[in-house]
Amino acid sequence: MATSLSSPPRRVCVTGGGGFIGSWLVKLLLSRGYAVHATVRDPGDAKNAFLMQLDGAPANLSLFKADMLDYGTVAAAFAGCEGVFHVATPAPEHEIVDPQKEMMEPSVKGTMNVLKASLDMKVHKIIVVSSAAACCINPGWPQDIIKDESCWSDKEFCKENQTWYALAKTQAEEMALEFGEKNGLHVNTFCPALVIGPLLQHVVVNTTSKVLLYIIKGGPDMINNKFFPMVDVRDVAEALLLLYDKAGPSERYLCSLDQVDLKELLGIMKPMFPNYSYADRIVDVDLNITFSSDKLKKLGWKPRKLEETLAESVESYEKAGLLKVSDGEPCRLPFFFRPPPVWE
Ligand SMILES: NC(=O)c1ccc[n+]([C@@H]2O[C@H](COP(=O)([O-])OP(=O)(O)OC[C@H]3O[C@@H](n4cnc5c(N)ncnc54)[C@H](OP(=O)(O)O)[C@@H]3O)[C@@H](O)[C@H]2O)c1
Repeated sequence: MATSLSSPPRRVCVTGGGGFIGSWLVKLLLSRGYAVHATVRDPGDAKNAFLMQLDGAPANLSLFKADMLDYGTVAAAFAGCEGVFHVATPAPEHEIVDPQKEMMEPSVKGTMNVLKASLDMKVHKIIVVSSAAACCINPGWPQDIIKDESCWSDKEFCKENQTWYALAKTQAEEMALEFGEKNGLHVNTFCPALVIGPLLQHVVVNTTSKVLLYIIKGGPDMINNKFFPMVDVRDVAEALLLLYDKAGPSERYLCSLDQVDLKELLGIMKPMFPNYSYADRIVDVDLNITFSSDKLKKLGWKPRKLEETLAESVESYEKAGLLKVSDGEPCRLPFFFRPPPVWE
């Protein structure tokens, strides 16, 4: 419970509060009675207008203009907060041209600014959103063993293969756990798989929602039969709050459903929504990338079924007009998800 009748609400900050995961977390925290500081880079941008319309927002949500690369703006957003959920990192849909500027700096330097500002502003707990990409790119891990929190992506391998997103997330996550240990700060890291689900705002669509949109609409790009397992954005928000309430310091948590073949996924979706064209340029790859979420489930995490997520995602896309056939550019699969698999 975030508050009682006699006490003021507990105050936390969500960095990247206008993003896909960030906004569902803000919504959940408000519904649980927290006072929330949400950072956005541009509070005047139309894509952030929905935040102040969330239930509870007028009383308990404050927007802070902050860039993770600007320490002063980050620290200002954390003032008075007992906890921070660090969600803000770019998740680019295009090919990365300048890895240092586009990925490494915002992810690694941005996370360091969050950690230092948390220490300076006397924040008690920090949950850093990393990624399953910081876990799965590890050619040394046996294919027949399910990946758990002890599996880390191989940074040298990521560098050699120019998998900059995974490299940046791995480096930032390792650094966050080390910083917490060294400075007596309660830090947890959280690695979700491919996050999908209904959208709270429709002005800008995030990269992983575009993956599901591509699967439904189809287009010119090849797509792997197997890639990241999926998880619902609302279950991700619940898991983040669960960690905040229950996890001990310096713990890492994976968050995912089981891996499904794309062909199985299409087998679920086509009878439910027969009117779409669906991706059909499928490349068969032999990859086992199931992650264990047992550690999270032991804390009490209960994810919903994939069918429910898919149905409610499609409903949300239809409402937003995202599934209309356009006569302009074809639908494209975001670069990071095109074959060959990023870890081959
Ligand atoms: N979606 C997934 O499947 C998935 C899976 C694993 C991990 N993650 C992680 O989850 C987080 C959120 O992803 P998402 O899918 O919700 O993406 P998203 O909707 O694109 O959100 C990313 C957020 O980060 C903010 N941001 C980026 N660079 C920033 C900077 N320098 N300073 C301040 N804010 C910055 C963006 O703000 P602007 O609106 O101002 O650009 C946006 O709010 C990321 O850390 C991502 O790595 C996502």
